[in-house]
Amino acid sequence: MPYRDVHETAWWRADVLYQIYPRSFQDTNGDGIGDLEGIRRRLDHLVSLGVDAVWISPIFASPMADFGYDVSDYRAIDPIFGTMEDFDRLLDEAHRNGLKVILDYVPNHTSDEHPWFIESRASRRNAKRDWYVWRDARADGGPPTNWQSEFGGSAWTFDDATGQFYYHAYLSKQPDLNWRNPEVVAAMLDVLRFWFDRGVDGFRVDAIHHLFEDENLRDDPVNPEWHEGLPPAQRLLRSNSMDQPEVHGAIALMRGVATCYVNERLLIGEAYLPIERLMAYYGIELSGFHLPFNFHLISTPWQPKCIAALVDDYERALPPGGWPNWVLGNHDRPRVVTRLGPRQARIAAMLLLTLRGTPTIYQGEEIGMADVPVPHNRIRDRFAFNAPAFGRDPERTPMQWDASAYAGFSSVEPWLPVAADFREHNMTIQSADPSSMLSLYRSLIAMRRREAALAIGSYTLVQASEHMLAYERRHGERRLLIALNFGERFEELESLSPPAKLLLSTDPERQTDGFAHAPRLNPQEGIVAELAPPEVVVR
Ligand code: NOJ
Repeated sequence: MPYRDVHETAWWRADVLYQIYPRSFQDTNGDGIGDLEGIRRRLDHLVSLGVDAVWISPIFASPMADFGYDVSDYRAIDPIFGTMEDFDRLLDEAHRNGLKVILDYVPNHTSDEHPWFIESRASRRNAKRDWYVWRDARADGGPPTNWQSEFGGSAWTFDDATGQFYYHAYLSKQPDLNWRNPEVVAAMLDVLRFWFDRGVDGFRVDAIHHLFEDENLRDDPVNPEWHEGLPPAQRLLRSNSMDQPEVHGAIALMRGVATCYVNERLLIGEAYLPIERLMAYYGIELSGFHLPFNFHLISTPWQPKCIAALVDDYERALPPGGWPNWVLGNHDRPRVVTRLGPRQARIAAMLLLTLRGTPTIYQGEEIGMADVPVPHNRIRDRFAFNAPAFGRDPERTPMQWDASAYAGFSSVEPWLPVAADFREHNMTIQSADPSSMLSLYRSLIAMRRREAALAIGSYTLVQASEHMLAYERRHGERRLLIALNFGERFEELESLSPPAKLLLSTDPERQTDGFAHAPRLNPQEGIVAELAPPEVVVR
């Protein structure tokens, strides 16, 4: 595609990313849990969807207390997912199909079963003691600070054997590494090199805002705005336990490793932060992440004016040369269909794939999968044990491939239940239905691939009213209008410079030729239309 030449050195700008949660993608060895061979066998789905790169959540050796986000060996594949040979085969086949492969790097913490931590906790004099964050109790015997674990409760666990507390931003089975120790830094940068040398195209970097905590162990202040709708950890403002200035030096070192490879490898950072703080994660003169994940579409009220303001704030805050990105969901957040309903999810898909910036699709979004209610006895996520309302199992249920037993995901009962409606709601049925969510995703991605205006063009807001959000994407002479009717009534476009040609609608009922005569959107319809080149409008 011609426009790709321009961005040869930055493949990730024009690309569409797709997140695979490997436990729930495809099981091939009959243990009810997805595996690498399953991903390989399903590559055809990703190719026909049209995505350019997959990010695979952790596949490394792990006791699975947090389903792979508790790594016990960064250089080994967990047998649940397969072998190193399976990985190499997958990588090779993905590359041969034109797909990039991005893995998940978990630098903040290891498993408590990692040999480093086993050594570290063995004695206060162990050479690896300082590889983790160990502190004495307060005078009253309590934990060193009031810092809270993301999953609820104190972030400190007392170790009887050595009489000190260790810090963990997540589960007590996920002790935090001490990134102030140069040996830790060296060992963890080597992990990046290990996978880059194998041919991996990039990393999504986990929980980066937790990498450092205040060295002086100051307590976190109370959050006066906390309410029951927020997770327990947010009772505190966490100004001393996350997003500390030292993190940017560590990210620059990671970037330094990625930069030294031919076809610089992509680094995406996971940090749930307000926009102004997120921007620092691009680094000084873009020496940080290529893409600090932007999760704000997940939390912003789903109203045109709010979305327009979000895009505006975000675009204005970007550092010079900083490239935007957007997501609607992931394995930690309720699914977009459940948040917004199936009709609005189609609008959301159009928004995601027509905004300026790299989009990431979470597996199952492309077939409109909803959260699956998980009965009490099937809950697997430990976060749910501490804070049931925030359990993440419902958005992690098996991919719904077809109408056969267990939705074609596995030959046995899977680790999490399959959606009750999988016989009607699956990839195979949607593949043959031009009005399905899957067909919409395919069309949007194909259009993004064809249209430089969508992939790399400029963004200009056209209208943000009570029900309508409209914006223009432009590249050279090519101008595309995206108009999204969030409301339940017909909506006129306030200003439309005719002639405009409808290219795509989210509404399967829409007649393709109906638009030129009536610049009016159906209830809950989104459209992409081609606008006349600028000269024509001026005359
Ligand atoms: C963010 C990951 O996305 C989440 O699933 C995990 O529990 C935490 N980081 C801890 O690694």
